[in-house]
Amino acid sequence: MDRTEELAVGRRLLGHIDGRTTDLADSLFRNRVIAYSCRERARLERDRLFRDLPMFMGLSTRLAKAGDYLTEDVAGMPVLMTRGADGSVKAFANVCRHRGAPVAEGCGNARAFTCPYHGWTYDLAGKLLGTTDKVGFAGVDLARHGLVPLPAAERHGMLFVRPKPVQPGEEATLEVDAGLGPIAADLAALRLDTYPLFSADRVAPRINWKFAIDTFLEGYHIPHLHRKTIAPYFIGNCGTFDSAGLNGRFCVARTSIDTVRGVPEAERSFRPHVIALYQLFPNTILIWQVDHIEIWRAFPGRDDPGRSDVELTIYKPANTTRPDSYWEKNRDIAIRTVMEEDFPLGERMQIGFESGATEEVIYGRNEPSLVHFHSSIRRALGIPA
Ligand code: FES
Ligand SMILES: [Fe+2]
Repeated sequence: MDRTEELAVGRRLLGHIDGRTTDLADSLFRNRVIAYSCRERARLERDRLFRDLPMFMGLSTRLAKAGDYLTEDVAGMPVLMTRGADGSVKAFANVCRHRGAPVAEGCGNARAFTCPYHGWTYDLAGKLLGTTDKVGFAGVDLARHGLVPLPAAERHGMLFVRPKPVQPGEEATLEVDAGLGPIAADLAALRLDTYPLFSADRVAPRINWKFAIDTFLEGYHIPHLHRKTIAPYFIGNCGTFDSAGLNGRFCVARTSIDTVRGVPEAERSFRPHVIALYQLFPNTILIWQVDHIEIWRAFPGRDDPGRSDVELTIYKPANTTRPDSYWEKNRDIAIRTVMEEDFPLGERMQIGFESGATEEVIYGRNEPSLVHFHSSIRRALGIPA
C-alpha cells in the first residue's frame, strides 16, 4: 500500500471506529448451502475456477535463482515451475512424456530433471534432452516430446500458473495485471520479492474450500470466536473493503490504532496498526501482517466437496535481524487461531450444511468482502446472481 492509500484507509478506519460503523455491501447476500456441499457445483468450480484462471503459486522468492524449481498438484494438475538460466519463470505439467511419471518432486535446484521411472531427461525449459534406450525409442522426435507447457507469470513478486495447458495459438505468458486491477499497484508497493519463505504448513480440514476462504473475509466473528486469542488486538466488526474485479482488499484495524490520534494527520503512520488482506481470486488470501507476509491457499478436496487442502505459508523479510523464534511465534498464532478455532467450527458447520436442515446462509451487509467473494464466484461460474 503506498502512502496516499495508507492515509486514506487509516482515515476510513478511524471514522468507522468513531461512528461504530464499518464498510457495508449494497445488500445482504443469501447463498444456498449446497454451494458448500454439492458435487455438481464442486465439479463446475474445479473446471471454471481452478483450471481457467491464474492460480497464485507463492512469492517469487520460492524460485529465487536460476535452476530453482517447485512442484505442486493444483486441483488435479501436477505442476512443475522452474526459473531458467535466463531468469524467466516457466511452468509445465509435471507429467513425463514417456508414461506419465512426475519428473520432479518437492522443490530444490536442478540443471535438468531426470524421470525416476526410466530416466528420460528434460531441461529447465521443459525440452526433452534424451531418452535412455535409444534403440527402443528410435523415431521418437525429441523436439515434439517436451513437457507440456502451462501458462505462467511472475508479477509484483508473485508467481502464477494456469493449470490448463497452453492452447494452440496461445502465449505461454499469463496476463495477470488486468485481473488484479487497482490492487496491482498496491501489491507492487509491498515489495513482495524481498520476502523469503519461512515456513509452510498443510492441513486437510473437513470443510469446503470456500469456507476456508470465508473465514478470513469478515472481522465480525473476531470478538466472539477468537475472544481468547486475537480478539484483544483487533477492532471487531470494523473494516474497509475495496473491490478489484474478482479480487479485493479488506483492511482491519488493530486496537493500537488509537495511538495515532495524537499525531498530526500528515505525519500519521497507520502501517503498524492496519492488517491488509488481499483476496486473490479464487483461492488465496495474502495478508500483509505489518512485518511479514502470511498467505493462505485453499483447494477443493479430491472428489468430496466437504474436504479441502489448505496451505499456510509465512514469509519473513530478507533483511530481518529477528531470531527465528519470533517468526515461529507468528506461525503459532496463525495456526492456533485458524486451525484450532476457525476450522474446527467450520467442520461443525459443514456437517450442518450437509444435513439439509437449512437451505441458505446469509452474508450481512457488514461482511462486504464475503458478499463480494461469493458474487465473484457466481460471476466466474456464470450463475445468475
Ligand atoms: S515414465 Fe518417465 S521415463 Fe518412463
Ligand atoms: Fe477467524
